[in-house]
Amino acid sequence: MHVFGLPPEAMRARLVAGNWKMHGSLAANQALLAALKARLKAIDGVGYAVCAPFPYLKQVATVLEGSPIAWGAQNVSEHDVGAFTGEVSGAMLREFGCHYVIVGHSERRGLYGESDPQVAAKFMAAQRAGLTPILCVGETLEQRERGDTDAVVARQLDAVLDAAGVAAVANAAIAYEPVWAIGTGKTATPSQAQGVHEFVRALVAKRDKELAAALPILYGGSVKPDNAKELFAMADVDGGLIGGASLVADDFAAICDAAAGTLK
Ligand code: 13P
Repeated sequence: MHVFGLPPEAMRARLVAGNWKMHGSLAANQALLAALKARLKAIDGVGYAVCAPFPYLKQVATVLEGSPIAWGAQNVSEHDVGAFTGEVSGAMLREFGCHYVIVGHSERRGLYGESDPQVAAKFMAAQRAGLTPILCVGETLEQRERGDTDAVVARQLDAVLDAAGVAAVANAAIAYEPVWAIGTGKTATPSQAQGVHEFVRALVAKRDKELAAALPILYGGSVKPDNAKELFAMADVDGGLIGGASLVADDFAAICDAAAGTLK
């Protein structure tokens, strides 16, 4: 597709992914997925996904079959197979038709001690299995107030780019999720989000300009129907990773509409 006169970033696909975190039940998922299926129509250039807890992935796959909504997991082992009690491999996810997997979410980094090298290993394991990783990066409030946002985001991103090589971003999305905005109702302003997104793209561009221009960079942190449009309208914000609002069908669908509405 080529649209004359538009800059390359206008060609980037949009993606809105829901991160259900540890929420759901068979009945609640059924109702949520049925409502989303009825509401979300396939639109060129806009992707939708839901990332559900492991036990519900089969249900999600079954209910979403034939719909334009893809699905993903929230975590994956950095190992391919072996004696790793409680872990789930990329190949297992792929066997069920899983498309995306979130890696390096701040809750995994903060609560479960996932390090930059481990996140990089998970990113690579996901790709080895044919999954598309959604790599989360983002600073805490303390780090932002110290003026360390760029350094933290660069460290998190470079750990993956150094280990996996820049070519790996051809099959990945990045999600910038400032930790202070997650589940707090405090959203980054559109210009704060744009600032970091631009920085992330520039970091990738230092290694490969074309891959950087095509890379979807999502914003996450208290995205709601009433702030999605202004966030997604920013030049380097290509969609969102949605927590709380992804559990409410009308809200998630409205956020997806906002992504479609800001498609340039
Ligand atoms: P909230 O949208 O609930 O702030 O969560 C964001 C998030 O962590 C998505 O991964």
